[in-house]
Amino acid sequence: MCAVHPDTTGVFDRLDFADDAPHEQVVFCQDLRTGLKAIIAIHSTALGPALGGTRFYPYVDERAALTDVLRLSRGMTYKAAIAGLKLGGGKAVIIGEPARLKTPALLEAYGRFVETLNGRYITAGDVNTTSEDMDIVGRTTAHVVARTPRNGGSGDSAPLTALGVFHAMAAAAETYWGTADLTGRKIGVEGVGKVGYNLVGLLVDAGAIVSATDTNTAALGRLAAAHPSVSIVDSVIDADIDLYAPCAMGATLTDVSAAGLIASVVCGAANNQLAHPDVELALHQRGILWVPDFVANSGGLIQVAGELDKRSREETTAQVEKVGDTVGRILQRQREHQILVGEAARDIVIERLRSARTPGPLSPVLPPRSDSF
Ligand code: NAI
Repeated sequence: MCAVHPDTTGVFDRLDFADDAPHEQVVFCQDLRTGLKAIIAIHSTALGPALGGTRFYPYVDERAALTDVLRLSRGMTYKAAIAGLKLGGGKAVIIGEPARLKTPALLEAYGRFVETLNGRYITAGDVNTTSEDMDIVGRTTAHVVARTPRNGGSGDSAPLTALGVFHAMAAAAETYWGTADLTGRKIGVEGVGKVGYNLVGLLVDAGAIVSATDTNTAALGRLAAAHPSVSIVDSVIDADIDLYAPCAMGATLTDVSAAGLIASVVCGAANNQLAHPDVELALHQRGILWVPDFVANSGGLIQVAGELDKRSREETTAQVEKVGDTVGRILQRQREHQILVGEAARDIVIERLRSARTPGPLSPVLPPRSDSF
């Protein structure tokens, strides 16, 4: 008998996920000719086709890749539902070192697998995959968004993701400080890559006092050239700021960092910001307002949903600006029910899934009322 970790064995009966909303379909894809090994996870199609990007990453093993894709696809269900989109949640991972493995032939092979799902899953870019890669994937499947504009796509989603984060921040500021005006607020941005860089521009224009950090000196150089007023610092998470904006990697909010945070509000683009769910309670007990990541960073998904619906850039931008209204509704519910912000957001997601679900063999069974996904 081989010993396996009970949390992370396969797809069914996983102990690390609540069993009330399991994944609908998980597809393992292999192409020996190109070295492609991919997993496509469809968490839910209750609201529409499952949409989510393709992450290309050198996972230590297949189990780590599976855990990541299951977690990320579930997050996409949340993100689409809270944003009011007619989309389900899905995600894909390609296992391997992108610099060594990523070739046009591999991306075309991947596209053929996406095509076999007949539109139940729609792919896009993610970590280590670009709009140019999606152009190549699109040679073998119709079910791809966020291609380059010259190939009919809506291109880089970072500017609209940043815009959504900005409006989420303003809504949180209105609740916390009684004004959405960010003039004079000290805001620390962690990670000034595609999203963080755009966010800093919006914050500077809004009159905020911005500090920023990044591990990449080129990213910092680009920022300093564009926004000389921004202070470049070693760290923002423990700095004397009003608002902490994580825009780099997830899981920066741990028991330790939450205890040391000086900021009153946390709102940023990074996915999966909490190292574990209880961190939100620790933040709440310290009077810190955390805006759930899947709400704040939904601008990119709204963009590709607009691409599918053939909406104009102006219409899509107006929809992204409504992320602030969504945050406002969640915070109002949180106050009314005296629950955590994350719980208020999850309640709205579950209500929407329950009301939109049409019975059928491919619809997931939702719980009568057991609210943890
Ligand atoms: P990116 O890769 O362009 O930028 C991330 C930046 O963070 C890089 O400049 C990197 O050097 C920096 N970084 C990495 N580790 C760091 C650390 N420990 N401390 C400080 N900086 C660090 O990625 P992008 O597109 O800007 O995304 C940022 C975050 O937002 C990611 O977590 C991503 O998953 C999330 N997100 C992005 C969306 C998009 O439309 N690009 C949509 C939704 C979420």
